[in-house]
Parts: sequence; C-alpha cells; structure tokens
Amino acid sequence: MPDVDGYIFDLDGVLVDTAKYHYLAWKEIAKEFGFELTPEHNEQLKGIGREVSLHKILSWAGKSLSEEVFAQTALRKNESYLQKISHIDHKELLPGVLPLLQQLKSKGKKIALGSASRNARLVLERTGILPYFDAIVDGTMVSKAKPDPEVFLKAAEALHLSADRCCVLEDAPAGIQAAKAAGMTAIGVGSPEILKGADKVISSLANG
Ligand code: BG6
Ligand code: MG
Repeated sequence: MPDVDGYIFDLDGVLVDTAKYHYLAWKEIAKEFGFELTPEHNEQLKGIGREVSLHKILSWAGKSLSEEVFAQTALRKNESYLQKISHIDHKELLPGVLPLLQQLKSKGKKIALGSASRNARLVLERTGILPYFDAIVDGTMVSKAKPDPEVFLKAAEALHLSADRCCVLEDAPAGIQAAKAAGMTAIGVGSPEILKGADKVISSLANG
C-alpha cells in the first residue's frame, strides 16, 4: 500500500463480496424487459448509483418507463438486493480485508468508506467492520455519482485530510476515474484490463 495518511475504501467488490448480489438483482430486472444482462454489461454498472444503473439498463434494452414505474422498478431492485444480503455476515468479507484494516489501524492511519450504496452502513454492520471506520460517505450523502469525485472528496474532508494524502481502493472503472479526478492515489482491486488508469492494480486486498 502507498504510504499516505488516509485510505478510502469502496464497499461492494472491495471489502465485501456483494457485487454479485447487485448483479443478480439487476439481471432479474433486465429480464423483465427481455434483456439478458451479461457480466460485461455489469462492469459498467459497478460503482454507479441505483437510478443511473436503471437508466443504463433501460437504454440497452431499448425501453422507457414512466417516472412512477421507474421509481417502483428501482425500489423492487433494492428489495431483491436486500433479500439476497439478508443472510450475510463476516464470511462475506473479501480476502485480506480484516488483516489490512487491522494493520492500518495499528499504524494510526485514517480509514473511510466512499460508496455509492445507500445500504452501505447496513452491510458494514452485518459484516462486523463498522468500528474500523473513522468516516462513512455513502449514497445517502452524495448528489453526483462516480465517476464524479464528490464521494471521495467528502470522505477526505471528513477525515480532515487533503486529497493528495489519501489513497482510494476501488474495483470499478467509474471509481478509479473518480479517485483520479479527486487528485488521489487510486489502487484498483481486480483486473488491470478493466481498471485502466489506476496507479496500481492488485488482484485482491490479500495481495496488496
Ligand atoms: C455501488 C455498487 O457500490 O452501489 C453498485 O457498486 C450499486 O452496483 C450502487 O448500484 C448503489 O447501491 P444501492 O445499494 O444504494 O442500490
Ligand atoms: Mg465497487
């Protein structure tokens, strides 16, 4: 890990293995429109907000919805996602997460969450890692979705750190773009082909 003062973690796909549940929930919704959502499409949904995701799926499917049905559909996706994560616990943490959080804490580093999800706090609570976080910025607190840097700039502000002293850990192209736009070091967690633009890419937090 680069030697900075603050580490800002994305949630889904970096700390917890919940990206697959978002994917499954969106796949069900897309199917209702006769559209088969593939893992390639899903890469473009990672990291971005619920409504922006639904707009993208509708445009791929060539469909449009009234405002009311759009809102109902976004709500149904979330209900399905919540159902899928109703059983989760610490076993859903991705490899290397706990040792890294413990190591950063012991070195006196600041830790924040920078996630688009409105369910972030619930997921941190259920997986038992909430106490490690000095600040949480989630989808209830931002108006502009990644790749806009807002979520990470707010996290740095909450940690009382300047952007250049923060490092973001992200699994989504939109998140890497957001981190770079914020002027932060960006570590991609996943594949280098997908996470272009990151300062460094690691296959998991266990291999940092
Ligand atoms: C991001 C996920 O963390 O949160 C996206 O990568 C998801 O897949 C977004 O759409 C919004 O999450 P939620 O839980 O508020 O619907
Ligand atoms: Mg993510």
